[in-house]
Amino acid sequence: MSATQPNEIVATDRKRLHVITWGCQMNVYDSGRMADVLAPLGYTPVSEPDGADMVILNTCHIRDKAAEKVFSELGRLRRLKDARAAEGHRMVLAVAGCVAQAEGAEILARAPYVDIVLGPQTYHRLPEMVARAARAGGAIIETDFPPEDKFDHLPDQAAPQGVTAFLTIQEGCDKFCSFCVVPYTRGAEQSRPATAILAEARRLVAQGTREITLLGQNVNAWHGDAPDGKTWGLGRLLRELADLPDLLRLRYATSHPRDMDADLIEAHRDVPTLMPFLHLPIQSGSDRILAAMNRKHTAADYLSLVDRLRAARPDLALSSDFIVGHPGETEADFEATMALVRTVGFAQAYSFKYSPRPGTPAAGAPSQVPEADKDRRLQALQALLRDQQARFNAGCVGRALPVLFTGPGRHPGQIAGRSPFLQPVHVTADSALIGQEHVVTIAAALPNSLAGVIDLALTQQAPIQPAPIQQAPTYQERLSA
Ligand code: SAH
Ligand code: SF4
Ligand code: F3S
Repeated sequence: MSATQPNEIVATDRKRLHVITWGCQMNVYDSGRMADVLAPLGYTPVSEPDGADMVILNTCHIRDKAAEKVFSELGRLRRLKDARAAEGHRMVLAVAGCVAQAEGAEILARAPYVDIVLGPQTYHRLPEMVARAARAGGAIIETDFPPEDKFDHLPDQAAPQGVTAFLTIQEGCDKFCSFCVVPYTRGAEQSRPATAILAEARRLVAQGTREITLLGQNVNAWHGDAPDGKTWGLGRLLRELADLPDLLRLRYATSHPRDMDADLIEAHRDVPTLMPFLHLPIQSGSDRILAAMNRKHTAADYLSLVDRLRAARPDLALSSDFIVGHPGETEADFEATMALVRTVGFAQAYSFKYSPRPGTPAAGAPSQVPEADKDRRLQALQALLRDQQARFNAGCVGRALPVLFTGPGRHPGQIAGRSPFLQPVHVTADSALIGQEHVVTIAAALPNSLAGVIDLALTQQAPIQPAPIQQAPTYQERLSA
């Protein structure tokens, strides 16, 4: 028997692990879990790849440029790996995430110096892969969807995430939107059991987390086995999490309009710690394009859903995702998207040019939109969305908003946090306030952030409630006007 236990790290065992993360919040969460499974082997996260014993690229395949970035990064890492080898050390190079899942052996064909290629469902097997890579010297590919659930095989010990934390509750997607790789890279929809989620949330809070964002590719499709023998939906799960002492804020992302049920809408009315900000992607405002995208909702469905949400939580701020230039999109379709944006009034949003993804139905569709039209439409849409964001931010000036402080600010003496609407907020204050929520009187709005002054007197008037924000008239009100 060896003198040290496997999870006992002595100074000489320390190895340096560098993880580079692209893509969605779930990849951020997964990178943390990969570091957790490697910690018992002596791997400690470092912020630079130079001199690292292992580098993991956690990749995203959602748009074309994302995959190209991976190959150019691999070229750079190859030089570091060679330099390390010249010093007599080995740098293990692993490609994880959605590009690994989609491209598999193709990665080794283009970059034969990669040691490990692993998909998003196999990272609990990383310690075994690292050992095999050391023994065999050849490359290892693990991109099958394994029969076991990775969440059951993750260590109980996890590094603290900080004041705000992600918690994956659902993974994969069965919706097969025409343009999207996610159902192929992440596999079928799966929900974690409520007990495991509540245990992980309790552990996070014990480690100092004050805000949890529940994650899923379709987070509101979550339906997990519950301790009472029933199946809960997301609304019920949020109510349970809201009972955790010291957990000040809850969020969830990303939700699909089709899975927004009545109980979840009511949770926005009933659960004060559920923040009044919702990322609810619609993709297009044209029913013709929504049908071509296989979204199975119309623009009117979305607008009446927004009305129901705003009736439940009048200060709810909305965010969304848009794709311009999906195959078949005409000027009239694009104008329908612009009209929808004007009707809803978004606090912020993401917008992308359609990028054909190999193997997805839309990639092979006739009537691809010329690049110049996509560019023009994206510019127009982004100008409108920027304007709406600036107006929303300007509307916060003079208001008192609770801010959860998460870290140092941009300038010395500043700390930064987030408003209920996820806007970054900067104040001049003592760093001892990081991890706490205080009311800030907003003094200035910048395009992407706010600045203000902490009002300790207001903070003491518990409970903290977000200030009401003026909303545009509802869709129904506009229809009847
Ligand atoms: N599950 C979420 C979205 C996940 S992907 C939903 O259903 O809304 C994140 C965003 O990337 C999508 O909302 C979409 O706007 C964008 N996206 C996905 N595939 C794309 C593609 N092929 N081209 C351009 N944007 C894409
Ligand atoms: Fe992709 Fe559509 Fe699934 Fe979202 S719902 S992950 S866009 S297939
Ligand atoms: Fe990208 Fe995969 Fe997330 S493709 S957006 S990393 S699910």
